[in-house]
Amino acid sequence: MKLRLDKYLVEMGKGTRSEIKRAASKGQITVNEQVVKKTDLKIDTENDIVFFQGTEVKYLLYEYYMLNKPAGVVSATTDRKEKTVLDLIEDCKRNDLFPVGRLDKDTEGLLLITNDGMLAHQLLSPKKHVAKTYFVKVLGEVTSSDIQAFQTGVDIGEKKPTLPATLEIQHSAEISEVLLTIHEGKFHQVKRMFEAVGKKVLYLKRLQMGNLKLDETLSPGEYRELTKEEVAQLC
Ligand code: URA
Repeated sequence: MKLRLDKYLVEMGKGTRSEIKRAASKGQITVNEQVVKKTDLKIDTENDIVFFQGTEVKYLLYEYYMLNKPAGVVSATTDRKEKTVLDLIEDCKRNDLFPVGRLDKDTEGLLLITNDGMLAHQLLSPKKHVAKTYFVKVLGEVTSSDIQAFQTGVDIGEKKPTLPATLEIQHSAEISEVLLTIHEGKFHQVKRMFEAVGKKVLYLKRLQMGNLKLDETLSPGEYRELTKEEVAQLC
């Protein structure tokens, strides 16, 4: 792939275009061991060797991270007040990462962070009905009539009832534990589905999205890159 030197370095998070230009004019950028002062030079991302301020900068088209989102951070790229999920990804290379979909501030679990817009679209498109599985702690007993209601679809105040969802009861008591798999992603969907059957969600954690499973060795706040196999399976 060919792209301008300034774009290459901006995408790799080395600064703004004007910062890159300034660095170039100070002789701080080399391409194939030659000092380069013109930042519109076309770079061959596979073969050219770019150094910025003495360090080699390799080009990476896409990055994919699996984050175990902790409660208390927001699923946004920037926020004036709150800590965001992107603040947690410390050693990323690209400057255009974003979370694929949103989890509420108090929700934990699987969140994919990437700059691959096509993949994000495939996972989020309402037409694709990608399955998402959540572990949920609910106040009160969860019964077979809830299983039935979720299978049929419940009214959460949208134009149509929810799509059929699978509820698996792990433990029904004063505080129940269940797995819920849904095939759409309306705002606060899981909480609203339980509200529709008169129950309150106390804790929510996403375990799976499509065929991507949360790596349970990741503690809340930890992340890792996806393996090549995981990326291939998702695509
Ligand atoms: N459903 C919710 O209610 N909240 C989430 O964060 C995800 C799904």
